[in-house]
Amino acid sequence: MSSEGSSDGADPVSTPDVAKRASHTSGNIIIEIDELTVAYPLDGDEDYVVALHKVSLDVEEGEFITILGPSGCGKTTLMNTIAGLVSPTEGEVRLDGHLVGKPGPDRAVVFQEYALLPWRTVWANIRFGLEMQKNMKEGSDERIREVIELVDLTGFEKAYPRQLSGGMQQRAGLARALVADPRILLMDEPFGAVDALTREVMRDELERIILASGKTVIFITHSVDEAILLGDRVVLMTTRPGRIREIESVPLERPRAKYDARATREFIELREHVWGLLNEDAEAHARGTPEGY
Ligand SMILES: Nc1ncnc2c1ncn2[C@@H]1O[C@H](COP(=O)(O)OP(=O)(O)O)[C@@H](O)[C@H]1O
Ligand SMILES: [Mg+2]
Repeated sequence: MSSEGSSDGADPVSTPDVAKRASHTSGNIIIEIDELTVAYPLDGDEDYVVALHKVSLDVEEGEFITILGPSGCGKTTLMNTIAGLVSPTEGEVRLDGHLVGKPGPDRAVVFQEYALLPWRTVWANIRFGLEMQKNMKEGSDERIREVIELVDLTGFEKAYPRQLSGGMQQRAGLARALVADPRILLMDEPFGAVDALTREVMRDELERIILASGKTVIFITHSVDEAILLGDRVVLMTTRPGRIREIESVPLERPRAKYDARATREFIELREHVWGLLNEDAEAHARGTPEGY
């Protein structure tokens, strides 16, 4: 599959010029996933569950990759392996050509549950993103102010998580991930816990924030619309064992929040195609022949 769909990745966080991204690309591969297999041991000595089987994917710097697939197809395992939280059983994951060992400040993870510290204010929660990286240095306050502005939480610095809506908590979580300026954002169903309307708003917000920051993003979802509307490429996974079924480039101009992307022919066709593949998979599994294609 083609690997188009990225920017030059050089825009600083504060740059509002989002048009650049639409015309990619640096062509610089930042993440290489090479025949990655992950098997988790089960209770018995020799039993294990194969969560990922020979998954290969190259991601360009500045690219927004969405990973779509049913529960249990290994999406979280794939993300955790990139994060350095899970080790490959076979195959490799490389960042800038180096094997991923453990978590590092170049990668930040945003979880579904916001994982904010309830006893800390918005400001102190975001500051925690720097503390975790042992990255505190002069200019930190300025940096925290910058990301708070980026996620549109200015004025809520002193609020506690319980005083915020779900969408605002998610934005605070995003700011905490961005504050230490990681090169890669790993997002595991980040909008799973917010209501449907907020989710729409958050999606547009995320596009704006990511376009402004030039980050490379791996975004996991099981919403077909979300995967297409956000992704430069959609990686469609299938289950038992988890592997890549297909990779689709999304031919929609950015910023997509600025027009009704869902009404375009490109969107409708791609959506239909992806749903078709998901249905085939679901039917094959229902018949008990998951290898039947
Ligand atoms: N720590 C673990 N130990 C054993 N099995 C696991 C573990 N984590 C995930 N699995 C299994 O691996 C498969 C993939 O899980 P996961 O990566 O969480 O998928 P997804 O995020 O797509 O729902 C599932 O069958 C799951 O039960
Ligand atoms: Mg998961």
